[in-house]
Amino acid sequence: MSVGIDEISFYTSGQYLDLKTLAEHQGIDSNKYYDGIGQEKMSMASVDEDVVTLAANAALPIVERIGRESIGALLFATETGIDQSKAAGVYVHRLLELNSNCRVVELKQACYSATAAVQMGCALVARNPARPVLVVASDVARYDLGSPGEATQGCGAVAMLITANPRILALDPEVGNHTEDVMDFWRPNYRSNALVDGKYSTKIYLKSLKRCWEHFSEQSSVSYADIDYFCYHLPFGKMAQKAHSHLSRVNKSGQTPEQLEQQIEPTLKYNRLIGNSYTASMYIGLCSLLENSEESLAGRRVGLFSYGSGCVAEFFNGVVQADYAAALHKQRHQQILSQRTELSYDEYIKLYHYPNPTDGGDHRLAEQTQGAFRLAAITDHKREYVAR
Ligand code: HMG
Repeated sequence: MSVGIDEISFYTSGQYLDLKTLAEHQGIDSNKYYDGIGQEKMSMASVDEDVVTLAANAALPIVERIGRESIGALLFATETGIDQSKAAGVYVHRLLELNSNCRVVELKQACYSATAAVQMGCALVARNPARPVLVVASDVARYDLGSPGEATQGCGAVAMLITANPRILALDPEVGNHTEDVMDFWRPNYRSNALVDGKYSTKIYLKSLKRCWEHFSEQSSVSYADIDYFCYHLPFGKMAQKAHSHLSRVNKSGQTPEQLEQQIEPTLKYNRLIGNSYTASMYIGLCSLLENSEESLAGRRVGLFSYGSGCVAEFFNGVVQADYAAALHKQRHQQILSQRTELSYDEYIKLYHYPNPTDGGDHRLAEQTQGAFRLAAITDHKREYVAR
């Protein structure tokens, strides 16, 4: 019996800032963003959206197909926590009307936690193949205005159904890990924006990739040459290009720049338009690969590198299944991206500074999202989510 990703669906906000607009305001060349970091647009969550509504919107098509009764667990990965105690997934559980016998938990380790959730989901399914696990990764990436990280904001959620004999990607059990206590990116409890040592973070990312690969090579008989495509964690597109060149050098592959580009280019398309969505980012990259590759991926081997600052990282791999194309939500995803509204710089700033009420009063939130779920109010310190 194989175990892995049977279905994958993502969602992002209905509004975005074009990085040309940001560059114009900053008086710099927009090619720094378009080419230098490899990003074009960044999704901005509306005032009535957060990780819960993004996640519920991402998971809805999966739950509607499989039915609400069969899901055994909902594992919610995020680093945009809305509560120190209650798991955000419990709200999603209600919005999706899942069965009360479905267990829910929230996982945190920066962008890596979605991969922890996928691996835990695989372990649960291996133990009881009759109970699929729903993994949801959802984040809103925020940095200080005027900081180098500002252009790498974004938001999005991805939902994945982990099952036995999956229709999309069967995952090998062998993985390579690296954990190290570093301060490259972090967000203390009292801050709503992340702090980051940007250049250092890219160095640690590459170091972790090498370490994970070395560990993976000790565990698995799969070689670098056996892997057809590579999905990297995508804080911005250029990071994947740097990472793939690095891994190719580590393996002395002798590949040309064109050959390297072919192995990652289809993974970058969606993130280029969404921005960083932290935990969801690499898996939106996987969606992008599955839905934008010019050749059929059936039987192709995909390597995945998941990185979470702080840091924990993992290299793992899987094989795309024969009928994977029939299980995709390509049309829905492309519609979500094509129907977004562009923000002016002033609208972006207004949204960025929208107050996050903390006084326990009765705060009704303007109806902005086009999604199926919204955060309607924060009243008496309680968040009120509704279906639209
Ligand atoms: P910066 O320092 O402003 O950028 O921000 P820069 O000056 O280094 O320029 C970036 C690139 O653009 C350079 O290319 C320039 O040459 C080029 P490179 O040397 O890198 O190949 N460039 C141009 N290209 C074309 N035309 C031009 C032009 N001008 C310059 N006119 C930085 C970059 C990454 C530091 C910043 O965006 C940042 O701090 N981002 C946030 C941190 C981050 O994303 N780190 C990534 C690794 S850590 C990670 O992935 C984890 C994370 O997702 C969090 C988590 O785990 O939870 C962040």
